[in-house]
Amino acid sequence: MATVFLETITIMSITGRNVHIKTFGCQMNKLDSALVEAGLRNAGFELVGSVKEADVVLFNTCSVRDHAEQRVLSHLGHLKHIKESKPDFVVGVIGCMAQRLGVELFKQPAVDIVCGPMQIAHIPRLIEQAMKEKKKALLVTEEIRKASSDGQELERFETEFGIDDAEIPGQAFVRAMHGCDKFCSYCVVPYVRGKETSRPPEAIIEQIKKLADNGIKQVTLLGQRINAYEYKTGDKTYCLADLLYMAGEVAGIEWLRFVTSYPSEKYFDEIMKAMCAVPKVCRYLHLPAQSGSDKILKMMNRGYTSAEYLGLLDIARQIVPDISIAGDFIVGFPNETDDDFTQTVGLLKKSKYKNSFIFKYSPRPGTVADKRLEDNIPMDIKNKRNIELLKIQEQISGDLASEFVGKTVKILVEGPSKKSRRSIEDKPGDLQLIGRTAGDWIVVFDGPETLAGKFANVGITRTSPLTLFGNLV
Ligand code: 5AD
Ligand code: SF4
Repeated sequence: MATVFLETITIMSITGRNVHIKTFGCQMNKLDSALVEAGLRNAGFELVGSVKEADVVLFNTCSVRDHAEQRVLSHLGHLKHIKESKPDFVVGVIGCMAQRLGVELFKQPAVDIVCGPMQIAHIPRLIEQAMKEKKKALLVTEEIRKASSDGQELERFETEFGIDDAEIPGQAFVRAMHGCDKFCSYCVVPYVRGKETSRPPEAIIEQIKKLADNGIKQVTLLGQRINAYEYKTGDKTYCLADLLYMAGEVAGIEWLRFVTSYPSEKYFDEIMKAMCAVPKVCRYLHLPAQSGSDKILKMMNRGYTSAEYLGLLDIARQIVPDISIAGDFIVGFPNETDDDFTQTVGLLKKSKYKNSFIFKYSPRPGTVADKRLEDNIPMDIKNKRNIELLKIQEQISGDLASEFVGKTVKILVEGPSKKSRRSIEDKPGDLQLIGRTAGDWIVVFDGPETLAGKFANVGITRTSPLTLFGNLV
């Protein structure tokens, strides 16, 4: 752990304690932001919805692709101007970019605080310090791959603040694991999120119980490789299946999810059997394939072949026939030929995903792929392959979606849909609402806003590839 005070700058003292947090990246970051918000509220700060209203702005950042980092840098550039006119404004960078770039981020004149993801428990104190002492502070874990005392501090923070209100009513994330030990050759996560460690099952279940007491209906267990969850105590080893059975007993929680899974055999059957046996476990699996070419999978250090991957999908569908599966792909990985790409297309067609997330390869400094392989696929080919996969997926999703027409689905309502907040002429007070099925299908329908955070049944009348539309029944 390193706290470095870089310089002392004299600025006027701050009176306001309004904080705005802007979150980039994955669900892990959303969870970290929720924890930081709860910690800040507890320390007497107020959370506000925009930079304009804020005295303190925190960026919770993502390093997984260059584009995500560039967006943050551009925001920080704009804040420089705000800071010139409002010198007691405090700006912090937290999350993966903070861990990856560390002190380098102080080249951005607006930045006062740089704090890594293992150090978020210290943010309220760092902000106080920046406000009172006008010092720039760097707090990142020096040797992120080594076990350190940061873990204990974080665990305390997590247990204390991981029980607060959720961003989406009725839903909460609970971390089951930290970090990743897989070292896929393209991926920055093991370098910024540290060693894979599973949290004690009793801490997780305790947290889920408290969330249920606070009215939470759906809990999503999080881990970079959630199906690798393993906690040894005495002579018992807990895996994700055990967690699901235990969490399934918590009264008040109605739906349980887990993301993201990694394609490996260990515990796979047990987890699928738990999904089948525990009615609360949503029949949804996010299982990124990344590529359909064995040559590329090997260069990615994924540790499976496309046939082995498809074998896992078969097992999942045998044990849980109505399971809904989502995938991830990276196109334009170094040396990906047309033939490699054709094999990815083949895998996509066989996998029958509900949806897939498709990314263009982005070299990440420090990763093995970046060090050893040239980013030699031109952007126009990456774009072309991206569009082709999206088109094929759209067709598959469209076909799967159309099977819902005429059926009634149970959904957990999230709230008004972002794009079209509108009231319906003949039903004043109704809005266009959005919800999700257990299989993660997005459902759009009209209803009262008071349904947010509650379950509802919707009769599906029409569909598009990614959305089901219908009416409340
Ligand atoms: N470039 C492009 N996509 C990446 N992903 C991870 N690292 C990279 C990278 N360097 C994608 C993978 C992963 C998802 C979260 O992001 O598909 O599953
Ligand atoms: Fe990255 Fe691979 Fe770990 Fe996923 S499993 S976080 S892609 S290194």
